[in-house]
Amino acid sequence: MKILITGGTGQLGRDCEKVLARDQNVAAVGSSALDISDRKAVDAMIGNLKPDVILNCAAFTRVDDCETQKELAWKINVAGPENLATAARACGSRMVHISTDYVFDGRKPVPEYYTEIDRTHPTSYYGFSKLEGEKAVALATDRYTILRTAWLYGAFGRNFLKTMLRLAVGDPQREIKVVHDQFGSPTWSYGLAKQIKRVIEADVSGLFHATSEGFCTWYDLAKMFLHEMKVPGALVPCTTRDYPTPAKRPANSILENRRLKEEGLHIMQDWRVDLIQFVRMFKNHLLYEVK
Ligand SMILES: NC(=O)c1ccc[n+]([C@@H]2O[C@H](COP(=O)([O-])OP(=O)(O)OC[C@H]3O[C@@H](n4cnc5c(N)ncnc54)[C@H](OP(=O)(O)O)[C@@H]3O)[C@@H](O)[C@H]2O)c1
Repeated sequence: MKILITGGTGQLGRDCEKVLARDQNVAAVGSSALDISDRKAVDAMIGNLKPDVILNCAAFTRVDDCETQKELAWKINVAGPENLATAARACGSRMVHISTDYVFDGRKPVPEYYTEIDRTHPTSYYGFSKLEGEKAVALATDRYTILRTAWLYGAFGRNFLKTMLRLAVGDPQREIKVVHDQFGSPTWSYGLAKQIKRVIEADVSGLFHATSEGFCTWYDLAKMFLHEMKVPGALVPCTTRDYPTPAKRPANSILENRRLKEEGLHIMQDWRVDLIQFVRMFKNHLLYEVK
């Protein structure tokens, strides 16, 4: 199978390349090789390569910046996926697209969760643009698979865990305020990449939730991560109100991977199991990176 990964230089894209290239023919490209918002460039590359699957891991992921750079967010998160899905249809390729928990408003009380049939209602421009991207993909082709994930971290690229580590290593005495009233499911990009491989091989269509099992707050996540890393850090729990951000985040974005389970495809693990394995594999790499 020939697979084109867009956003191949990102956190998830790199793990997807690693996992899929074990037994598939994979081409992974970043924005300098293919700008997905450039319709002509997309048509040219896909027409040339004729991949069986286009896996779109590209996105404008800086949630707060999306509030002030709406045009760019739309180009990357809506026009880009639409271009890819349109080219996929013309080529007979399957379009696999990654979306987010931020399509929900998070008003359900914890521990209630969101399934694929729950009503969407984003509270940020990022969430809105990702939701419009989902719709654009579904309109452009029938052969699409959309996976909504959440709270991604991995060895490559920027993420919340690396920020926590950098702050704690930089000054172990300094208080680090971490939000303790937003709930979600931290998801290791490598575990998600393995789930994506399973979905691609099963050739299934439609919308799927794909996060690690279980849930916690950002504070819980930071605490367990630093504990596993054996790095002291003066973490202090705070509320969303104490830590205002330009984009409003959902208080509860716990997703249930219902369709993956119904289809017998579910391989996501508990977030704590993944976090322990992540630290075991990348502890030295992470420390080296922040020092
Ligand atoms: N990060 C999270 O916590 C999170 C949570 C839920 C869902 N998601 C979704 O998961 C997916 C992967 O996220 P991630 O964390 O791996 O993202 P990331 O590390 O920020 O990587 C983003 C990727 O998008 C590429 N890109 C940006 N603009 C592009 C353009 N115009 N054309 C082509 N490529 C472009 C970047 O390429 P260059 O670096 O080469 O410019 C990079 O490879 C995204 O769909 C995101 O919305 C992420």
